[in-house]
Amino acid sequence: MKVLITGAGGQLGRDCVARLTSVHRVVACTSADLDITDSDQVDAVFRENRPEVVINCAAYTAVDRCEKESKRCFGANGVGPGLLAVQCSAVNARLIHISTDYVFDGNRPVPEPYCEDDLINPLSAYGRSKLAGEQAIVESMDNYCILRTAWLYGLSGGNFLKTILRLALSRPENQLKIVNDQFGSLTWTARLAEQIEALVDSKETGIMHATAEGFSSWFEGAVFFLQVMGVEADLAPCTSREYPTPAHRPANSILENKRLKKAGLNKMVPWQQDVQAFVDQNRQPLLDEAMAGQA
Ligand SMILES: NC(=O)c1ccc[n+]([C@@H]2O[C@H](COP(=O)([O-])OP(=O)(O)OC[C@H]3O[C@@H](n4cnc5c(N)ncnc54)[C@H](OP(=O)(O)O)[C@@H]3O)[C@@H](O)[C@H]2O)c1
Repeated sequence: MKVLITGAGGQLGRDCVARLTSVHRVVACTSADLDITDSDQVDAVFRENRPEVVINCAAYTAVDRCEKESKRCFGANGVGPGLLAVQCSAVNARLIHISTDYVFDGNRPVPEPYCEDDLINPLSAYGRSKLAGEQAIVESMDNYCILRTAWLYGLSGGNFLKTILRLALSRPENQLKIVNDQFGSLTWTARLAEQIEALVDSKETGIMHATAEGFSSWFEGAVFFLQVMGVEADLAPCTSREYPTPAHRPANSILENKRLKKAGLNKMVPWQQDVQAFVDQNRQPLLDEAMAGQA
């Protein structure tokens, strides 16, 4: 099948390109190739490539900066997905779009998870912009999958695990305080790409949750990751109040992959299993990058 991947230079985009290239005819568009907020560019790329499936990995993901950069945030996360949906509808293409746990307020007691039909109530500009993207798709077409995921990490790009590794290696004598009152599921982009591959050929449509199984706090996730990496560090738990950020984040980001399981399509595995596999495959490049980041 002809598969167009937008945001192909991001951490999930790269893993989707790597995963799908051997199976499908992939057209990979980075932000330099295609700005999804530019309707003329979107139109031209669709006319040239006539995709059968579009995987939208493009988004403005700087959650704290979204609070001030409203135009950029709502453009990439709200308007862009709408433009893709209109084009997909016109050429009968299937759209697989990635959304987020941040559409929920996280006020539910841990460990009660959020399912697809639970009430949405985003706390941040980023969450509201991603919700706008979901709504623009739902209003414009039928053959779509909106996959809500959370706490992504992968080999390329910046993410929480890489930041923790860099800080642990650069300042081993310093205690690292890590938030211990927000809960979610660290989700490997390579596993999510496998999940997306399974959805390319499927007839399932609608909103689905796709995160790793199980959950932890950021602190527990960091402790586990550094243990697996074999890196010693002085980590201490702290509260969100001790680590204030411009954007409010949900305390409970635990999502249940209810619809994927019901459809027999769930590829997601326990988060610890994937962190272990991620390290087994990438330990040396992760160390090299973290050391280079200190220079
Ligand atoms: N990261 C997480 O923890 C997390 C959690 C939940 C959901 N998600 C969602 O998962 C998806 C993938 O996230 P990710 O972590 O892979 O993000 P990422 O690494 O930041 O990649 C996003 C990509 O989108 C590109 N982009 C931004 N604005 C664009 C535009 N207007 N047109 C075209 N491309 C644009 C960026 O290019 P430039 O770098 O050149 O701007 C970047 O390559 C996103 O939809 C995100 O909202 C992520």
